[in-house]
Amino acid sequence: MNENILVAVAWPYANSRLHLGHVAGAYLPADIFARYHRAKGDNVLMVSGSDQHGTPVTIRAEAEGKSPAEVAEFYHRTFVEDFDKLGISWDLFTTTRTPNHQKIAQDMFLRLHEKGYIYKQSVSQPWCDKCRRFLPDRYVEGTCPLCKSPNARGDQCEQCGKPMNPAELVGARCRTCGTAPDYKESEHFFLKLSAFEQPLLEWLKTKTYWRTNVLNFSTRYLEEGLHDRAITRDIEWGIPVPLPGYPGKRLYVWFEAVIGYLSASIEWAEKSGKPDAWRPFWEDEGHGYYFIGKDNIPFHTIVWPAMEMGNGAKDNPASIGCLKLPYDVPANEFLTIESQKFSKSRNLAVWVGDYFERYDADPLRYLLSANMPETSDTDFSWREFVRRNNDELVATYGNLVQRVLTFTYTRFDGAVPAHGVIDEAGRALLDKARDAIDVCDKFLYRCHFRDAIRAAMALAQEANRYLDEKAPWKAIKTDKEAAATSLFVAIGVISALKTLMYPFIPFSSQKLHGFLGLPGRAEDGGWTMVMPEPGTKLNQPQVLFTKLDDTIIEEETRRMGLGGT
Ligand code: MF3
Ligand code: ZN
Repeated sequence: MNENILVAVAWPYANSRLHLGHVAGAYLPADIFARYHRAKGDNVLMVSGSDQHGTPVTIRAEAEGKSPAEVAEFYHRTFVEDFDKLGISWDLFTTTRTPNHQKIAQDMFLRLHEKGYIYKQSVSQPWCDKCRRFLPDRYVEGTCPLCKSPNARGDQCEQCGKPMNPAELVGARCRTCGTAPDYKESEHFFLKLSAFEQPLLEWLKTKTYWRTNVLNFSTRYLEEGLHDRAITRDIEWGIPVPLPGYPGKRLYVWFEAVIGYLSASIEWAEKSGKPDAWRPFWEDEGHGYYFIGKDNIPFHTIVWPAMEMGNGAKDNPASIGCLKLPYDVPANEFLTIESQKFSKSRNLAVWVGDYFERYDADPLRYLLSANMPETSDTDFSWREFVRRNNDELVATYGNLVQRVLTFTYTRFDGAVPAHGVIDEAGRALLDKARDAIDVCDKFLYRCHFRDAIRAAMALAQEANRYLDEKAPWKAIKTDKEAAATSLFVAIGVISALKTLMYPFIPFSSQKLHGFLGLPGRAEDGGWTMVMPEPGTKLNQPQVLFTKLDDTIIEEETRRMGLGGT
């Protein structure tokens, strides 16, 4: 049975370019997962878009002296460009500023409001007397009451991930002018999260297969007591409250953005000419996987599921109401850069756009897969980048492909050779290749990406050992059939590796697919080991990976202002 897999990926704020932390945290794992499921023949819908509203964008616009729309459009275009180079295989990458998203977000607000899960309340809001305005979330800064980080924002502490009310900050100040804010009454809409505390706890109990960090964080968060949260702001940039009488208020960017998973799915269905095509992904038979960084956990394991519950998953089956709660939220930890925390101000980041001025996608995808921050923070260093490229992609995998295919191509008339009896060593290697397909299937199904790519690379190592022993380049002089047989076995393993590596390094798998003389796309072969047919015409093999010079380590670290290491 084919599964319906929704791959829902965090919406990047349209206020900054993408850096490697974004890639390792959400986009690469999501893409690996989507490609794997497509190769298996499952139905995949992979969506996201740029998160264009709210203070993240207005603050940036003020800093650049541009309009929020200009800023959002500019960064949106950089996302599209960067994702294209990275090979992130979206079914749809849209934005939160489409009329479709606005409508669906407003509809959901109205439905929750009708059901009493959204209510109005007057609250005292931070007000800056000097700036003469209310200060929405990010315009207030102060010390985090939980982790004591001195630069926490009014919406969330970036250091420990705690979602925040500005009033919780110790020593709060206006971001623009530094004044300590006063508090003034303002009427806002609240999401009645408290009503979902028990249902969410019950639901989390069924999530025994979640990553421990995600499950523990979410459970702890609920056990501390779930409080209602304001979901409107006094701000002009955002989606209007769909009720008369609130001209100055907009939906809070977090309330609105998570609805994007649904609105993007609907937009995709409409664009594909089958307006109902989104439903299988969101109804009973669908499985939704949410790929996010750890700072986004509570919004995806608590707030969004609560909104879905309130929307009427069970009692409103005739409408958009039947939404399936997330099946898994495989949030990643952080990626440090040269053992230091990402910092835009200190230029401690590798920007995706800069990376592509000098290198290809697959070496980066490979490194970040092998080193993915799945269960703890991991580090990116240029030294490791060069090492993994040279020792693993070039010397192990690339070399295997190169020596087998080039030799076969030149000495066996450019075709898969006919083989004699395959001996025990050959059969054992082919069994290992079949095992690897199964083992990686299980790893990938559970989002264990690091284990999967390591198992794949271990198979390439095995194949190299086999070839060293069989040495067909020597055997051909005395026993052509023996040489043909070992090359045939090796081509079988290479064909398995093409499949195993495809979700991680799709560009080189596609090339390899062509070298093997196969038509169409690498992913069409299915998640199985396809033995090559003797006589199949090969195509002239080219180099798959290029060795990188050690000097780039110093060059790149210096570029980041770290000096040579
Ligand atoms: N824009 C948010 C961030 O970059 C993530 C939003 S994910 C969404 O942290 F689901 F809410 F859109
Ligand atoms: Zn101020």
